[in-house]
Amino acid sequence: MNKNKKTFYITTPIYYPSGSLHIGHLFSTNLAWVIKNYKIKRNYDVKFLTGSDEHGQKIEKKAKELNMENKDYVDMQTNKFIDLWKLYQIDYDFFSRTTNLEHRECIIKIFNDMLEKKLIYKSLYKGLYSIEDEEFIPETQAIKKDNNFYHPISNHQLEVIEEESYFFKMKNFTKWISDFFDNNPNFIVGQKITKELKNNFLEHDLNDLSITRISFSWGIPVPSDPKHIVYVWLDALFNYISALGYAQNDTNYIKYWKEGNEIIHVVGKEITRFHCIYWPIFLHSLNLRIPSKILAHGWIITSEGKMSKSKGNVINPLDLLKDFDPEIIKYYFAAKMSIENDNVFDKKFILQAYNADLVNTIGNLISRTITMVHKNFSQSIKFKQTNDEQDLFIIASINNHFDLYIKYFDQYNINLAFDAMIELARDLNKYIDLTTPWKLTNDLSRLEIILNILLNGIYAITAMLEPVMPNYSKKIQNILNISSLSFEEVKKMEKFDQILINKSDIIFPRK
Ligand code: MSP
Repeated sequence: MNKNKKTFYITTPIYYPSGSLHIGHLFSTNLAWVIKNYKIKRNYDVKFLTGSDEHGQKIEKKAKELNMENKDYVDMQTNKFIDLWKLYQIDYDFFSRTTNLEHRECIIKIFNDMLEKKLIYKSLYKGLYSIEDEEFIPETQAIKKDNNFYHPISNHQLEVIEEESYFFKMKNFTKWISDFFDNNPNFIVGQKITKELKNNFLEHDLNDLSITRISFSWGIPVPSDPKHIVYVWLDALFNYISALGYAQNDTNYIKYWKEGNEIIHVVGKEITRFHCIYWPIFLHSLNLRIPSKILAHGWIITSEGKMSKSKGNVINPLDLLKDFDPEIIKYYFAAKMSIENDNVFDKKFILQAYNADLVNTIGNLISRTITMVHKNFSQSIKFKQTNDEQDLFIIASINNHFDLYIKYFDQYNINLAFDAMIELARDLNKYIDLTTPWKLTNDLSRLEIILNILLNGIYAITAMLEPVMPNYSKKIQNILNISSLSFEEVKKMEKFDQILINKSDIIFPRK
């Protein structure tokens, strides 16, 4: 590996295997995957992690219902995740499973370190717990209805529990995390979430956090007190470093975490408390490095509200594959959904985005241009400088839209980055309408200049499309007769000089 490259480590949440993955999970994973591909194009040395969160009471209950061994059940479910990512052609470097031996070693090590550093004490937990969310809820935040308590966000019914538990001294870190937020205003992407977390949790002291349970056994036992099972969230959060070989002091851990340049976790907004407050505190308490950023996104909702089994509005990503190529679905999720807000999903929006952006705008630009190249220049075209005003204007548009794309991607405004790409394609189509190249068959010298600019515009668009649609952009590359696309080449206008352009099939057929 190239030592001079900056490192970039990006993760998705590790998902519970107690249910099937839906399009909300696909949204997070796709986002992280597209960002990973973009960073590779920006010459980073990148690692990408996804995985499954396999311990806890919820999983134990599910396995029991199906009369299965816990491990057999999580193996079966996790294989479904692996198959899903394969079908969606989402590749990753680490598939992190909390049932892995290396992970168990990591949790045992950090628990012992916490005990040794006196960050933990044993006491009694009396309070409310949501098994579905695997979350302790203070009574002040619970919703009370007919003598029952409910989770304030998910609405799941809460259990009243009273059991011996180890506690982590979260309260001692209230000031530290508050200062950390103030000193790192860009730690969380999404100002709304930062504000909410500050108002809801940091206005008062944090509560010490119960970090073991004794009423079930599916998890990692505390070595010195094995009736205690490590709380699933403590178990799960540390997957991000256990998968890099933290407990084994692996070179991956040193390179991508300890001494790494950028570390980013992609998460849905409902799990920001764990990632933005508890996770940095756990790491800080053990003198470990803190991630650079948490990219917190809103939810995918349907017209009936948030997806849930009880509402029967859960959309299975496998169903979408019956109608669309995976890259078209991935384009829709990355290019048309905002990160900060919730997004309403409807299958017909995928088709609309495909026809508007890919068929009518990019596809049309490619076929118009390639047809004219073949009609008028049998071999290839030559590069010539130009001073024509319309030419200079469209060349500036290529450069500016590419700069905008980079700016937005670097800010994690992914949908705006793709908007910049589409705007450029629209400008290029307009440039064809204005310069009327089809009337220039008697002025091949002028026509050559226009077509060269258009080929460069198509190159820029294909390079921008590649992080989300690598297969389709490969097809465009084949027409342009280039073996790879590089961001560094986008602004160099002489790259098509004497290049033999291939004939074009329709890249994006109308649906
Ligand atoms: N196991 C924990 C995460 C541990 S990470 C150390 C968990 N798992 S989960 O299976 O419930 O997945 C939650 C994640 O799935 C969300 O944070 C989000 O990334 C994604 N989504 C689930 N539903 C979603 C929507 N409706 N919309 C968008 N993403 C959502 O929590």
